[in-house]
Amino acid sequence: MTEKLILITDRIITGPLEALSKYNVKFDLLSDPINSKEAGEKIKDADGLITMLCDVIDKDFIERNSHLKIISNYAVGTNNIDKEACEKAGIIVGNTPDVLTNASADLALTLLLGSTRRLKYNTNIVNEGRWKKWEPIGILGNDLTGKTLGIYGMGRIGQTFAYKCQKAFNMDVIYYNHREKEIRSDLKATAVSEMEVFANSDVLSFHCPLTDKTKGVINKANLATMKAGSFLINIARGEVHHEEDILWAINEGILGGVGLDVTNPEPMTKDSPLFNHPDVLVTPHIGSGTIETRTAMTKCCAENILKAFNLS
Ligand code: GLV
Ligand code: GLV
Repeated sequence: MTEKLILITDRIITGPLEALSKYNVKFDLLSDPINSKEAGEKIKDADGLITMLCDVIDKDFIERNSHLKIISNYAVGTNNIDKEACEKAGIIVGNTPDVLTNASADLALTLLLGSTRRLKYNTNIVNEGRWKKWEPIGILGNDLTGKTLGIYGMGRIGQTFAYKCQKAFNMDVIYYNHREKEIRSDLKATAVSEMEVFANSDVLSFHCPLTDKTKGVINKANLATMKAGSFLINIARGEVHHEEDILWAINEGILGGVGLDVTNPEPMTKDSPLFNHPDVLVTPHIGSGTIETRTAMTKCCAENILKAFNLS
């Protein structure tokens, strides 16, 4: 068996990769930025890559590296990879679906509770020493029970999040998906139009992939149709929203609070109009960020690699 070399573009939990040594598959860390000259030299000797969602794998990169057999993205989303170019070059693209569904749905739930109970605003009060007394009408949040949850992008994560919300808070679920979608049988959810999901949700949560259709869909025109004081969650991709438009909607009283696990651009910079806003709870793209899930994602990459080399 000839030796295969897989380069990993950042440090990951490597445990599950050890099982591949018996197939003569070796792993190494690519410590230079993926599009640098130094990385280019190293990738020449590699058979495959494990890439991160922030690595830009465009047509140029693929043309320079058409010898690769597999690129396994350490993420469910693959919008950072030009898949058409990969297909042309005969490079298999892998990702890590399913294993991160629960963790991502849990993070959406964290943002949901955090934004509706004004977690950032309220913890700031404590952290800044402004907690003086118990206040009957201090800064009040909103209940979830019986409210309408709108899901934009009803894939695995959207459905799992909706299921958890329905079980926990008896929420009514409406959803919009670009294509017709079969919904898990233990979830009661109504398909609606794109316009209706914006107009009728008390909480609207984004779980769609980044595509030409979803890019920038959280914009002023659509936000303007939302209910006053509703909540917005985005755990999909930052390019789905416009940060100035979200700020506008907060200032207009359309949005009562916002939870973002993704920002535009990413990472969020201090220039963002949303930076430090007390009603915008931001986490640093950690949807899949649990020990168990990140370990499972490595295992998934290992399986993708074995399959690509016909070793499994
Ligand atoms: C995270 O955003 C992922 O695509 O896995
Ligand atoms: C991602 O796995 C999704 O389908 O939501």
